Amino acid sequence: MDRREFIKTAAVAGAGLLVLPSGVRGGENAPSNKLNVALIGVWGRGLAHYDSLSGENVVALCDVNEKRFPDALKRFPNAKTYVDWRKCLDQKGLDAVVGCTADHTHAFIANWALNRDLHVYIEKPLAIAVEEARVVRANWLKKKAKLATQVGMQRHAMQNFNRVRELVRDGAIGQLTAAYAWGDRQIRRPGYLPAEGQPPEGFHFDLWLGPSPDHPYNPGYFSGGPGMNCLSWNMYWDFGVGQIGDMGSHTMDLLWNAVDAGLPTSAEAKGEKFNPDVTPVECESHFDHPANDWRGPIRVGWYQGGAMPASPKPYVDLKRIDHGAMFKGTKGYVIADFGSRILLPFGDDSDLTYYKVRAKDAVLPPLGHFQKQWIDACKNPSLKTACDFEYSGNMIEQLLLGLVAYRVGKKLEYDGATGRVTNCPEANELLFRKYRPGWTLNG
Ligand SMILES: NC(=O)c1ccc[n+]([C@@H]2O[C@H](COP(=O)([O-])OP(=O)(O)OC[C@H]3O[C@@H](n4cnc5c(N)ncnc54)[C@H](O)[C@@H]3O)[C@@H](O)[C@H]2O)c1
Repeated sequence: MDRREFIKTAAVAGAGLLVLPSGVRGGENAPSNKLNVALIGVWGRGLAHYDSLSGENVVALCDVNEKRFPDALKRFPNAKTYVDWRKCLDQKGLDAVVGCTADHTHAFIANWALNRDLHVYIEKPLAIAVEEARVVRANWLKKKAKLATQVGMQRHAMQNFNRVRELVRDGAIGQLTAAYAWGDRQIRRPGYLPAEGQPPEGFHFDLWLGPSPDHPYNPGYFSGGPGMNCLSWNMYWDFGVGQIGDMGSHTMDLLWNAVDAGLPTSAEAKGEKFNPDVTPVECESHFDHPANDWRGPIRVGWYQGGAMPASPKPYVDLKRIDHGAMFKGTKGYVIADFGSRILLPFGDDSDLTYYKVRAKDAVLPPLGHFQKQWIDACKNPSLKTACDFEYSGNMIEQLLLGLVAYRVGKKLEYDGATGRVTNCPEANELLFRKYRPGWTLNG
């Protein structure tokens, strides 16, 4: 069993442990077993965490919009409230943080929480610049024995993720040679919104901007419904990374879970004309990954906003899958959306005799509830999470490097150990973001 399959199996088996290792909290219902949690970003996506946090002590609520507090306090009446997450993280007695803020603050909150020895669940994407992903991952790797992390890619708990992995891993398509993921969401914006009106009372727009460069207030950034408002700001370079941070994080996860890749050795990309305000809608990026212990080198491709990989057969219309992944092997293809997959053997010798369906007891076990997996791991450090900051950090670093390649328009050679592009100095400038004075990424 390889490392990742061991983690997956151990995580589930561990959830049923009767004898807990020393240092681990007590029985399931003991008051001492509850985590003291800060929820940062209490509306929108934050609402999706209320149920899983209801068994814990939510002791701090933070939101830049004070109008969100009364409803949140009805659910978590004992919490203190904050408008600045930096002050919230200084509350004494915290164990863990759930962050559901805008994308440009994720890496900040994650680093600050880790630096205060707090477990972290952060919504996707983990970061919006290569360097941000690297710093968060490095901070967590130093503390992984005691802190649990998870990035909000909850579709990972769908059983199809494991079924796809098993097909690819067990050779149903022969030797894996390439993998492709795509997303077809297309939201076009011409540029940052012009100044319009004033922030409503109780809305701290300056704190919402946080580390990002100054932009005038416009209510258009805040016009979406709960959990959908991210579509009002996530395409702007200073606030997000468009499709990559949006559905792309979920869709690349479907691919990433099956290929056991680390950082790429190269990245190249092409897309629509560069807009300094807005991330591209149509774009595709391609990465080389070295061999690992069960497969040879592979190419990974990411397609968005109308760009699509070629279908292996005209009767398979990939465009009918809005967000999907395809795996190419020496003997065929696996094509998948989040909840289903098809196997397409290819070529005269693709008779499937080389492939053995797993015995029932070797099938990867269900992950269970995704948020609960993290809560369990916070309480018992011997348990693992599926989308920790190493797995998710590598995944988003790759995608963010693709955006850098798109911006410079060159094939980049990448040294993952140092986080430097070795053949294009101007690309190295784009691995970082510039922050407003007073904001520290690794504080
Ligand atoms: N996992 C998923 O399936 C999923 C689904 C939707 C959104 N998301 C992610 O959740 C995040 C939030 O998305 P949303 O649509 O809820 O956005 P949103 O704009 O509605 O923000 C959510 C809440 O966070 C607050 N907030 C924003 N910045 C803050 C800050 N710096 N400090 C404190 N509070 C802050 C907002 O006031 C709001 O109450 C995004 O990163 C998005 O990618 C994930």
